[in-house]
Amino acid sequence: MEKFENVILCDHPLVQHKISLLHDKNTGSKEFRELVHEVSMFMCYEATRDLPLKDVTIQTPLGELSNSKIISGRKIAFVPIMRAGLGMVDGALALVPTAKVGHVGIYRDKQNGNTAADYYCKLPFDIANREVVILDLMLATGVSAVKAAEIVKNAGAKTVKFMCVLACPEGINALHAAHPDVQIVCGAIDEGLNEDLYIVPGIGDGGDRLFGTK
Ligand code: URA
Repeated sequence: MEKFENVILCDHPLVQHKISLLHDKNTGSKEFRELVHEVSMFMCYEATRDLPLKDVTIQTPLGELSNSKIISGRKIAFVPIMRAGLGMVDGALALVPTAKVGHVGIYRDKQNGNTAADYYCKLPFDIANREVVILDLMLATGVSAVKAAEIVKNAGAKTVKFMCVLACPEGINALHAAHPDVQIVCGAIDEGLNEDLYIVPGIGDGGDRLFGTK
């Protein structure tokens, strides 16, 4: 497989197993949601790997422990892209329960040359002081991801990551062409896009499969 810069592929066997189940067309919405939740937890583990630590001294039941580590510095904001990114929020929050959550609503305007149209935005007021992790189920054309990164950067975010369950080369290249600094954390990289701009082999329409709308 092609090697990509600034991309973390979570190739843990448990993640790969769960992503195979997500690819399976016979996996129903209930199981699909549970799997997205679980995979999001694993990916969040990787997305937060470089959080800075500081030393503290702790009183244990038997004595003193110096140089004990706790997370210091920047806090996190998760920003799901509606709607499919919503399925990843609880998994991410399970690992970082104190994170704040912003929302952006973006769709790909097919009538307007596949540009990104944003229809909703509500971000934490202190987003400039937070490490932002944008959540979306898939990185397909990259149109929504590019727009979401632009929105959070315009709001002041300096460190931005993009976490998705499934990516493809076209989406990775598009996001990095516009925002080379945005690290991508993903569970799998599929072959590419078909003529309808779906990822192949892919998981189909991620939002529909999550929410049972088809
Ligand atoms: N969005 C989806 O839901 N599926 C794809 O394959 C691509 C984008």
